[in-house]
Amino acid sequence: MRRLLFAANWKMHLGPEEARAYFKTFRARYNRRDDREVWFFPPAVSLEAAAQAARERADLLVGAQDISWEPKGAFTGAVSAPLVQQAGAKATLVGHSERRHVFGETDDDTRRKVAAALAAGLLPVLCVGETLAERDAGHTTAVVTRQLSGALSELDGGALSRIVIAYEPVWAIGTGKNATPQDAAMVHREVRAWLQARSAARPRVLYGGSVNLKNAAELLAEPELDGVLVGGASLDPETWAQLVQTGAA
Ligand code: PGA
Repeated sequence: MRRLLFAANWKMHLGPEEARAYFKTFRARYNRRDDREVWFFPPAVSLEAAAQAARERADLLVGAQDISWEPKGAFTGAVSAPLVQQAGAKATLVGHSERRHVFGETDDDTRRKVAAALAAGLLPVLCVGETLAERDAGHTTAVVTRQLSGALSELDGGALSRIVIAYEPVWAIGTGKNATPQDAAMVHREVRAWLQARSAARPRVLYGGSVNLKNAAELLAEPELDGVLVGGASLDPETWAQLVQTGAA
């Protein structure tokens, strides 16, 4: 059975108090289903509140939006994998498009962050995706492959099997323009092939970029999608509770 993964990226929204209220509503609206799991990526200050609110529900998991590649030390403003773990995180996003394009994160940074996550026992969700100019120039495959090998080429099949990939075309994030299920599936197949060629067992590939209540069913009907990574449409617990019921595993 395919187990769908619904991941909520709250970005710079929802502080600890709001996170507690969110989970109260969400837990009341969404009961555990064996055919799906739901992951939440709150801002670092809300990790502990979210992790507390999600405990006792094995289908819910909380992760960080970003980590430092260093485990500790004099790095003002940074948060390490062991620190987010203490707050209850079990996973972390790495290389989200906003980290790459707003904060200048490089492929080599993502390599170090994936390694730091794995060393601490966090599940990395590596985000990859091309810009509109790269897509128009026909470079989608080249960009995604470069991002995969930049972050993952030093890892063996065992480590690769612990990594989730989120394909998020940059032009689709927060724009209201989602990739078609066919477009996404084409990239997902390439990502899966890349991982399988390096002995990753059953790689999971999510799609992200303007997923909402209206388009989720059509996207998830495409068997190449193992789930979705959602920003804007995950911020309201009622909408999100509805969205995570979408699609048959
Ligand atoms: P969006 O964001 O759903 O608001 O497009 C997705 C993401 O950035 O992960």
